[in-house]
Amino acid sequence: MANFLSTFLFFLLFINCAFSWKKDEFRNCNQTPFCKRARSRKPGACSLVAIDVSISNGDLVAKLIPKEKNQENTENGENPIKPLVLTISAYQDGILRLKIDEDQNLSPRKKRFEVPDVIVPDFVNKKLWLQRLKEEENEEGIFSVVYLSDGYEGVIRRDPFEVFVRESGQNGKKVLSLNSNGLFDFEQLRDKKEENEEWEERFRSHTDTRPYGPQSISFDVSFYDADFVYGIPEHATSLALKPTRGPGVEDSEPYRLFNLDVFEYIHDSPFGLYGSIPFMISHGKSRGSSGFFWLNAAEMQIDVMGPGWNNESVLMLPSDQKRVDTLWMSEAGVVDAFFFIGPGPKDVVRQYTSVTGKSALPQLFATAYHQCRWNYRDEEDVYNVDSKFDEHDIPYDVLWLDIEHTDGKKYFTWDRMLFPNPEEMQNKLAAKGRRMVTIVDPHIKRDESYYIHKEASEKGYYVKDATGKDFDGWCWPGSSSYLDMVNPEIRSWWAEKFSCKNYVGSTPSLYIWNDMNEPSVFNGPEVTMPRDALHYGDVEHRELHNAYGYYFHMATADGLVKRGDGKDRPFVLSRAFFPGSQRYGAVWTGDNSAEWDHLRVSVPMILTLGLTGISFSGADVGGFFGNPDTELLVRWYQLGAYYPFFRAHAHHDTKRREPWLFGERNTELMKEAIHVRYMLLPYFYTLFREANASGIPVARPLWMEFPADEKTFSNDEAFMVGNNLLVQGIFTERAKHVSVYLPGEQPWYDMKTGTAYEGGATHKLTVLEDSIPAFQRAGTIIPRKDRFRRSSTQMENDPYTLVIALNSSMAAEGELYVDDGKSFEFQQGAFIHRRFTFSNGKLTSSNMGTATGANNKFASECIVERIILLGLSPAPKNALVEPVNQKVDIEWGPLLLRGGKGKSVLTIRKPNVRIADDWTIKLL
Ligand code: NOJ
Repeated sequence: MANFLSTFLFFLLFINCAFSWKKDEFRNCNQTPFCKRARSRKPGACSLVAIDVSISNGDLVAKLIPKEKNQENTENGENPIKPLVLTISAYQDGILRLKIDEDQNLSPRKKRFEVPDVIVPDFVNKKLWLQRLKEEENEEGIFSVVYLSDGYEGVIRRDPFEVFVRESGQNGKKVLSLNSNGLFDFEQLRDKKEENEEWEERFRSHTDTRPYGPQSISFDVSFYDADFVYGIPEHATSLALKPTRGPGVEDSEPYRLFNLDVFEYIHDSPFGLYGSIPFMISHGKSRGSSGFFWLNAAEMQIDVMGPGWNNESVLMLPSDQKRVDTLWMSEAGVVDAFFFIGPGPKDVVRQYTSVTGKSALPQLFATAYHQCRWNYRDEEDVYNVDSKFDEHDIPYDVLWLDIEHTDGKKYFTWDRMLFPNPEEMQNKLAAKGRRMVTIVDPHIKRDESYYIHKEASEKGYYVKDATGKDFDGWCWPGSSSYLDMVNPEIRSWWAEKFSCKNYVGSTPSLYIWNDMNEPSVFNGPEVTMPRDALHYGDVEHRELHNAYGYYFHMATADGLVKRGDGKDRPFVLSRAFFPGSQRYGAVWTGDNSAEWDHLRVSVPMILTLGLTGISFSGADVGGFFGNPDTELLVRWYQLGAYYPFFRAHAHHDTKRREPWLFGERNTELMKEAIHVRYMLLPYFYTLFREANASGIPVARPLWMEFPADEKTFSNDEAFMVGNNLLVQGIFTERAKHVSVYLPGEQPWYDMKTGTAYEGGATHKLTVLEDSIPAFQRAGTIIPRKDRFRRSSTQMENDPYTLVIALNSSMAAEGELYVDDGKSFEFQQGAFIHRRFTFSNGKLTSSNMGTATGANNKFASECIVERIILLGLSPAPKNALVEPVNQKVDIEWGPLLLRGGKGKSVLTIRKPNVRIADDWTIKLL
């Protein structure tokens, strides 16, 4: 009873205080000693010099020691500052890796943590064997130079030590550098200087015992020829990162990377949210892009320096070379950093994802529309919502169940009063081609009758507190413990729990949602796990905090793969993420609010995730907290239809908001938005495959497609879906007009009306109620499926429409990728990948390297039923299909896109060519 009462009181307290952002619950830089120390260092403070520079085992190695002899000692002689070991390795495709750590031969107090399981095995094979070391000497010092690849060199300056990449040859322009501003600092593990030296840190009621004392690392990184820097999610802020230091931003916090469960986060802040990716990409007009990635899972803080941040800059540059300086600070770990040379934005993303992996190819259903709410109450509610979609002719693919579906927040169980027949429920939805998702969080209820808890505690699978006992924290179920997912044995035990046999009440059409995996601990410091908690291998939580959720996501995705005997692709949505999360599934931007500013910030948040490898992401459509007014909700559907991950979700305190609850007209509008997504599924799926093969994200900043156009560099209201579509959100209430910048020299075609707009210009457009502006770029071909069904599964055999937008040379090209939409067989070549080219009045479909005939295990009878030509006058009357040698009609009539009647366009009706075949269609 007492236990129940305290749980109840705790929740009362929690509910009262949790639902608005409480700044004071979280540390700022000044309250975080390592951040404060690093930020107060002056440029040039680093006194380390590089000695013993040589090539060893194909790497460039050196030692870093303090310049002033006696380097052997600190003040009292008890803690010798030992040399640090620096290693530079080169990899194919313009990648340099820099490691700096304590010298393991000198028996450091402890081996510092290096994050395993992030770098993909393939990357290791791309290592180049460095052979020749060149020495250079000039008035700036002595330099050791190695040739990297493609006309770039890696350089170590000896005194003061600096590492940089430059172009080789005469001009030798720098691309990226570390420690050019002399801010490098590496706190080596040591014994306490004096018995009473204070290592503990207190924040609010929490004490961090910090048994290993200060161990932070900080350094500056400079990006040359850069106008802006981007990346380092997750923050609710602009795409081009605003300076956090320098004139005019004296009070700003650095960008924080510390996975946190932040209730009601604000829409413009450098504050750290649920996931962390310490990867930054720069872009500038004169050179293009470069990138920097620090593989480190401890808390990180990053400053972007504004112009003039450092009056006494120790670094002189030719006046025409622009540069962005940044400061990186981490609480623990080692330096394991990667420099990416670019030079294009897509090159940098490809280089970064060659280290951390490409996005998994989702199942087709997962790229369609998802309906979620905390909570769909019971089976009746589920059936009701499901049938309402049908009644209103709105397609959807997945219905989600939040925490209330469980028996007392014990994951893998069902509240049998509410969900007496979960298998039957899933099977009924599956019969319409629909799936379900249930939530599985990492906190395990400490209830002796709960099998997961029983096994986990018996096997010693929980994270331990600083005293070595199972860590016990509060989350949804009350007293909970947390599985130590860093341990591979525990991950594989966890994965087994997802088999249909072990997860009672589940069926193969059930998929998983991982929430609260930062991890969220309601009564922990900053709502998370204490930093001195202990993991497998005696690793402190502080060293791997940002990777905890990643491991949980990984184990869950593995579980779904195992459940299907390795045949089916998993689908797992995760809130926390880390570099490499893209290999395991989708992420979303957490608990946003039903406000226009949150709608707006969803675009830079999703674009940033895409730039840093995570292509499959979205924001809660409608906003999680609060009740959106109808206009906001409609606009959110219209924008969300272009998010890579498209899911509506809402807090349990909000009013119900399924699309049919706002009057007929608004139902129509939301339905139309969802229809646009279903129509574009073939295009989206083709883009997901591109992301899977090359790392290039589905949703892209304009400058990724138009890298030389400065007007795009800080535009984060519009974005590209692939390279063919530009979408502009509407972010204000009752907007009458919107200015849309359309880059490039070619025209753009309004997707709905077919109207052409000039490229390289800003257009003031009238805002429509029924759609947000979306344009197809001239010179492209988009594959669509225009018939509406209940779900994507039911569209499988539907015919295609090809929309050809001609450029000024009357040419266009596009792609279509199709496979079975669910298995891994595509990795063995079981897919259809076509290139469509239009030129000289002829459309050609050709194979893009797929196995043909009997060798290709994937077949499709799907045909093209319609071809729309934008930008062609009404001259041709018919067309000749070859090789069948058949004439088909061409019509001249208004473009008909749901609810709208557009300009007159040419349409080739019923060419009925199979998408699997080679063919041409010639206009006559
Ligand atoms: C927090 C998540 O961000 C939210 O989406 C979910 O509905 C609640 N937890 C309850 O599970």
